[in-house]
Amino acid sequence: MTAFPLSRPARIGVLASGRGSNLEALLRAFPSGDPLGEVRLVISNRGSAAALEKARAANVDARHIPFRDPQTFVDDAVEALDGAAVDLVCLAGFMRILPPSFVRRYRGRLLNVHPSLLPAFRGLHAQRQALEAGVAESGCTVHFVDEGVDTGGIIVQRRVPVLDVDTEDSLAERIRAEEHLAFPEAVRLVLTGRVSPSTVEVHG
Ligand code: GRF
Repeated sequence: MTAFPLSRPARIGVLASGRGSNLEALLRAFPSGDPLGEVRLVISNRGSAAALEKARAANVDARHIPFRDPQTFVDDAVEALDGAAVDLVCLAGFMRILPPSFVRRYRGRLLNVHPSLLPAFRGLHAQRQALEAGVAESGCTVHFVDEGVDTGGIIVQRRVPVLDVDTEDSLAERIRAEEHLAFPEAVRLVLTGRVSPSTVEVHG
């Protein structure tokens, strides 16, 4: 079981399905040579994901692993993550639900970013859910991943106002800007050992 802090830079793996703006934030915060952690491997279930291009542009190993079925994906992803001796796995806009076997394997070192103030608005279309609920405030959450959907212990939250004129896109954009601060901050808290699953409140 990996216990943070490590006495060497942590090797970070990122799973991303899409544009990869959170990946970019992690690449900036944890570049090669950083004493706390380095993004070493990026995996996407979509071969055309911009996230893979962004990883390659940063000279980081980028792999396309298709999500044909959960178990095959997990087998292939674990092989790649183990091959790179990854210590911490970040889900940065990874749009598939990972099976419990994966979650158990990386417990305490598997993080996800979600575009709402959890426990509010779990699951898909969190920004639309926030607009439909008429809340005055939303935001983002970086949390440990457990076997539930968006239920694991919360590491960092950042708030944004919801404006009368907001559309799903404008709210998503405002939240995304905060995600780019929250995700590196959460990774720092975990890698320095200041936060672990036993120190965070679990909601579920
Ligand atoms: C983010 O809004 C994240 O909260 C959600 O997916 C989106 C990913 O965006 N899980 P990007 O690919 O990092 O730009």
